[in-house]
Amino acid sequence: MPKLKTKLPSASVTVKTEVVCPNDTNPMGMLQGGQLVHWMDIAAAVCAQVHAEKICVTASIDSMNFRAPAKVGDIITIKAKITRAFVSSMEIWVRAWVKNIKGKETALLSEAYFTFVALDDDITPAKLPALQPETEEEKDQYEQALKRKQGKAQR
Ligand SMILES: CC(C)(COP(=O)(O)OP(=O)(O)OC[C@H]1O[C@@H](n2cnc3c(N)ncnc32)[C@H](O)[C@@H]1OP(=O)(O)O)[C@@H](O)C(=O)NCCC(=O)NCCS
Repeated sequence: MPKLKTKLPSASVTVKTEVVCPNDTNPMGMLQGGQLVHWMDIAAAVCAQVHAEKICVTASIDSMNFRAPAKVGDIITIKAKITRAFVSSMEIWVRAWVKNIKGKETALLSEAYFTFVALDDDITPAKLPALQPETEEEKDQYEQALKRKQGKAQR
């Protein structure tokens, strides 16, 4: 079997932009949390699949907070970045920001760590390419990802 290549976090960074539409909101005109989770899951899945070069499924999402409201017409920007590849699972750091089209300020809306598992054609977990962190932030996230995985295993 050929050796899997090592890849950089920057190679799979995924940015997704959405505009909040009336169908995405509650009766107060505020973005529904489930819609934001859906958009974040898609961005994370694209990031995971670009790294893995395989179909990937969501295995878990850690705790999620909604820090600011978003209203109809607001622009949502979601950034997904891999922090660490383990054997067949990988952690994806997903952040979402909100911006009003008339304002210059961008606020952090939500942040979470998603775990995806890469699958082979027979739907069994597939081995992942290793991740080589480059920047100080990437190296820190890489170390923290192991602690988060170990923390999950103890639950
Ligand atoms: C995720 C899934 C593929 C794992 O399959 P499995 O047979 O339990 O696989 P394993 O026990 O061999 O674990 C495979 C890897 O997944 C990780 N994993 C499994 N369940 C996990 C969970 N809930 N959270 C985080 N990681 C998990 C394991 O730690 C392991 O990681 P590693 O290979 O990097 O060490 C399987 O549980 C599944 O298909 N779940 C449904 C996925 C889905 O439909 N997602 C959409 C939900 S709507």
